[in-house]
Amino acid sequence: MARKAPQPERADFVVVANRLPVDRVVLPDGTVDWRTSPGGLVTALEPVMHGQDGAWVGWHGAPDETLEPFTDDGLKLVPVPLSTQEVEEYYEGFSNATLWPLYHDGVAFPEFHREWWDAYLTVNRRFAEAAAGIADDGATVWVQDYQLQLVPQMLRERRPDLRIGFFLHIPFPPTELFLQLPWRREIVAGLLGADLIGFQLPGGAQNFLRLARGQLRMDTKGDTVRLPDGRTARARAYPISIDARAFEEMAGTPEVVQRAEQIHADLGHPKTVFLGVDRLDYTKGIKQRIRAFGELIAEGALDPEDAAFVQVATPSRERVEEYKLLRDEIDRLVGQINGDTGRIGRPPITYLHSSFPREEMAALYTTADIMVVTPLRDGMNLVAKEFVACRRDGDGALVLSEFAGAAKELKQAYLVNPYDINGLKASMMEAASAPEAERKRRMRAMRKQVFENDIDRWADRFLTDLKQADPTAEADQTG
Ligand code: ADP
Ligand code: F6P
Repeated sequence: MARKAPQPERADFVVVANRLPVDRVVLPDGTVDWRTSPGGLVTALEPVMHGQDGAWVGWHGAPDETLEPFTDDGLKLVPVPLSTQEVEEYYEGFSNATLWPLYHDGVAFPEFHREWWDAYLTVNRRFAEAAAGIADDGATVWVQDYQLQLVPQMLRERRPDLRIGFFLHIPFPPTELFLQLPWRREIVAGLLGADLIGFQLPGGAQNFLRLARGQLRMDTKGDTVRLPDGRTARARAYPISIDARAFEEMAGTPEVVQRAEQIHADLGHPKTVFLGVDRLDYTKGIKQRIRAFGELIAEGALDPEDAAFVQVATPSRERVEEYKLLRDEIDRLVGQINGDTGRIGRPPITYLHSSFPREEMAALYTTADIMVVTPLRDGMNLVAKEFVACRRDGDGALVLSEFAGAAKELKQAYLVNPYDINGLKASMMEAASAPEAERKRRMRAMRKQVFENDIDRWADRFLTDLKQADPTAEADQTG
């Protein structure tokens, strides 16, 4: 991809996220390439930003490089540098080995290290300064996700004229878990720098409001926190979504339709294709679903001649210990199941540890009969919505963990508790044997949900509420 490098002027609308929408990658021959960054945040926000004349502040994915702002595909990008040590302490450490497991119900043990917190402070300050530098007078700045929870307050100190929103893409944990954090008060105060704090689900907003009262002794009324400086901040739920129409259109192109047929042929035209698509993350319940499928094959409930499982897992956070362990465990599990039950040309599980273009994702969603999404905890899970959006045939079944935010919206999925392997097996079998009319009835309802509540609606709801906030107004003291 070619980049142009004019210095962007100040912007009226600024998104601040740990990552830019593109990652800078240096290839073995020394040439530089830019690739779409991993994860749901970029999938969701990219179409929002392309509809706005805004700037995106974020890290470009490589350490020890300071890059000038540049324009990509009409979008102003402002790279924030991170040193190798900051990548270790702020990104891999505090963000992904402290906050990530803590906010996902402690499904892995969160580690608490004071140096990691110091790096988190330093890097959040750098992001706040970069945002303050690019935001025009009275601009709207929208800060994203758990890596940058201190930015709202830091930015407000520097730029009280700005309208500041914050959205958390991952779950906000129950207060009992959050209280383990030695820096719990600082995080709550950091978020309260925003005028509007968005969560995926109402429960997250309620947990946060409880902490604002309990930890910082703030007055709250409904979803509104009254701050000592006279401002108010609101905490509300905005379940995130996807550009459903774009996914549907992509799935209808002749290239994707043909590719979907090719994948089916390459798999040997099995009667039932199960599919899993995730970042390789221990929150996603990949082990649980593979174990369930392996048992169904071993017990003879599914015949490897008829059923295939395709698991696609994007490499993610590969230097964090828990992710290394997970990779080894999945390699072993898949190897064992294929070794025990496969035959030449017919391994029951096709496992690809790799990232693919969106068109390939759309082809996989089209090929699958049953999408298996089994996180142990997930803020939303956009993969589930992408699958639904791509089903132009109105067919296909979704097996979905009740611990994904998406389960609150996609109620016609086959909802499962991923810790209950027998229950998971039963639901996978139920989905596999459901009559076509039943599958289509469920899919129709889910498609209606996803298309009516798409990413434009999400952004509109958040930004309309944010517009109502007047950062400079004194709070109404009478209410
Ligand atoms: P998270 O943000 O935790 O990664 P989501 O399900 O919300 O989880 O979003 C994941 C995004 O990454 C989706 O847009 C999905 O299409 C994309 N994705 C997941 N796995 C792959 C892969 N192997 N190759 C390319 N994109 C992927
Ligand atoms: O949506 C959750 C999220 O953690 C984003 O904040 C992040 O950009 C994405 O998943 C991918 O993770 P990472 O940036 O650590 O590769």
